[in-house]
Amino acid sequence: MLKKINVKDVQVGMYIHEICGSWMDNPFWQKSFKLTKATDVESLFEYHIKEVWIDTGKGLDITSKVNSVSFEEEKHHVNNTLQKIAAGANKLKPRVTLQEELVQAKKIVANAKQSVISMFSEARMGNAIKMDQAADLVEEINQSIARNPGALLSVVRLKNASNYTYMHSIAVSGLMIALGKELGLDNALLTEVGIAGLLHDVGKIYIPDQILNKTGQLTAEEFAVMKTHPPKGWELLNISNGVNGIALDVCQHHHERVDGKGYPNQLSGDTLTTFARMGAICDVYDAITSTRCYKASWEPGEALHKMTEWRDGHFDENIFTAFVRTIGIYPSGTLVKLKSGRLAVVIEQIEGNLLKPMVKVFYSTHSMTYLLPELLDLSRSSDTIINREDAQHWGFNLEKIGVN
Ligand SMILES: [Fe+2]
Ligand SMILES: [Fe+2]
Repeated sequence: MLKKINVKDVQVGMYIHEICGSWMDNPFWQKSFKLTKATDVESLFEYHIKEVWIDTGKGLDITSKVNSVSFEEEKHHVNNTLQKIAAGANKLKPRVTLQEELVQAKKIVANAKQSVISMFSEARMGNAIKMDQAADLVEEINQSIARNPGALLSVVRLKNASNYTYMHSIAVSGLMIALGKELGLDNALLTEVGIAGLLHDVGKIYIPDQILNKTGQLTAEEFAVMKTHPPKGWELLNISNGVNGIALDVCQHHHERVDGKGYPNQLSGDTLTTFARMGAICDVYDAITSTRCYKASWEPGEALHKMTEWRDGHFDENIFTAFVRTIGIYPSGTLVKLKSGRLAVVIEQIEGNLLKPMVKVFYSTHSMTYLLPELLDLSRSSDTIINREDAQHWGFNLEKIGVN
């Protein structure tokens, strides 16, 4: 049985099913493991982990005095939170259709990828970042998001371990702009937050490949090296001409947490800006929905569910609410089950209602067979989403079934 407990109640002999938090904040790359020695328990504190899921079928159970939350209780709580957030959302109609914008977005992302590769390799050779090149790129991303935000954000989800750093930079730029729009930022600020997203991880050029691409668990020393990428990136941007203050701030502080337990400066309260708080959310969402050399990705709906579960202490509450409204409570790429018993993948958010997106129906759970794929606008259908499904459990390749 799965139980969520506070780290202070963890004991040697318990089986950790999952750590509640982003896998970038600690070196525990393994999803599940048994705690065999006291130093394992101490490490959980050292990396500021607040809660964990334990599996009582595979390890020690809690005593009756310890508080815990069951899997079903947590699922219910997160679903309620997301439904409340969705109720206040007001999605606007995109200016062009998803299919039309996908054609543009694919070109923009392909060009952007080449530009980011050359920008980062120039920086690796010791040259300053060319800010006009970054600004031009972000302007194109900004325009694509303005025409139809779902298109570019779908294209950047398709990345692999080898192009991860570049695609992640473009993805965080797009997410920052889309979130900035939801927060009502003006166009000049949207460009600045887009540039900040593009350059937030530039400090990774100084991290040795054997650490950056390690498939196993990082040692404490390697993790300490990894944590130097924000200040190192800041130093590089600080000597490059024309870098805005927002990019410097987001580069330095995108791994901070609102509870002051992030890095590198343990900022919280007024010292942690709106932009750094935006960066933290966009960065985690894109990272955990991307396949890395050491970890398979979570599909978007699952990632959002987990972020909602750990948001306390990690993320700014109001900005997280805006983020959920930006990507939807069933973000594009999520596997859902419909009342009719059919399975579908979410394709696009529909104006006005985050609970009824456009989906592509492709499987029947009654006959357990594939159906001819069919686009279905749930805002105009009597069929409805009854729950999110685990894509890994079903073994579907949703990237193939989805928009692309
Ligand atoms: Fe980072
Ligand atoms: Fe990042």
